[in-house]
Amino acid sequence: MTERPIDHSEGITQFRSVFGADPTHVAHAPGRINLIGEHIDYCGGLVMPMTIKQETRGYYRFTGRSEVRVFSGRFNQLNVINPLDVMSLASGVWGDYVRGLLRIGTHRQLGRGFDLWLTSDLSSGGLSSSASLLALLALVNHHGLSDQIVDDSNASFRLTLALLCQQVENNFVGVPSGVMDPVSILMGGLIKLDCQTLKFERLRSIPETHCLVVMDTGVPRTLAASGYAERVAEIEQIEALNPAIANRQPLAQWDAQTADLVLENLDDRTLKARARHIFTEQTRVEKSALALADRDLVQLGHLMNESHRSLSEDYQVSCDALDHITQISRDSGYALGARMTGAGFGGCAIALVPKVDADRHNAAVEEAYQLHSRLKPALLVAEPGGSAHIVAI
Ligand code: GLA
Repeated sequence: MTERPIDHSEGITQFRSVFGADPTHVAHAPGRINLIGEHIDYCGGLVMPMTIKQETRGYYRFTGRSEVRVFSGRFNQLNVINPLDVMSLASGVWGDYVRGLLRIGTHRQLGRGFDLWLTSDLSSGGLSSSASLLALLALVNHHGLSDQIVDDSNASFRLTLALLCQQVENNFVGVPSGVMDPVSILMGGLIKLDCQTLKFERLRSIPETHCLVVMDTGVPRTLAASGYAERVAEIEQIEALNPAIANRQPLAQWDAQTADLVLENLDDRTLKARARHIFTEQTRVEKSALALADRDLVQLGHLMNESHRSLSEDYQVSCDALDHITQISRDSGYALGARMTGAGFGGCAIALVPKVDADRHNAAVEEAYQLHSRLKPALLVAEPGGSAHIVAI
């Protein structure tokens, strides 16, 4: 199938109307879904994210001035940041990502400013719109500072940029997120990533006969920030109770024997359930990679269902809407497996479905979900995406 070329005319026109000149480059940063390996990246676990076609896109040009001007098409808002401004604190708005990146990405050189017009079709929660924005900014900022465009083959530098993006979220925006999203977006494709060593392996995509359907519940992820930070703190608590082991390995990497012992000795029921999720999810990722290699999609679907159950019951990061939409998807009889994807507390789930049944599956889910919640879910077949990159216009 030949790819349709992207139409840039709307972006260029919008850029011109805001900044009064033409952009010279366009930066693309995809969103991602996560096949399996949820909430274990921040304790050194294995994850299997895949980038998708939906993306953040930014048209830009360097201005020779020092200030950075960024217009968000989504918020219809212009942010003007001068190099000194980047020293101020985060204030809970989208511009924080820009200031945080410029600050942590050491944007101190005068005359390296740029104008950037942003658009995105990543409105749904759970597809990593914030890491996508950060990855895009990191590439553009690096281009401005070094006059170099980072190419696809420069994996080690891309990993460095991913760590920088994570630092912005952790240390400036104030979300203790793991490293999965920026690595996925900067590397592209379907990968198995070890979040302790940052070693990753490119995986064969799911067979042509099947697809992954993204199911947006339409429920905003209101508790995502606080609930997420709470889970990270609980994991730190479990590690702190076992300092000798934790000093050697992060929780997700503890071997089966240690894991059994720790579970047996944990008195706190909540912490026990949290630890159980981490240990079992790590095993499920290993099994999923094997299932995918063996083209055993029934097994992969089963592991996805188990992952969702664990996230819902043990880790408690699901919600009614996510539990419901995944259950409807399974009950439709078409899906091999379904689970929430991303941080949870609302947002999106994914389902593994034979392509021939995708329309029937989607119609059944839409109808039953709407009856239950009065919300219309947005369903789309996820097309695999590439990595974040820049193209001259
Ligand atoms: C968010 C975070 C990631 C990861 C997922 C849950 O997307 O940004 O680091 O923890 O939640 O797997």
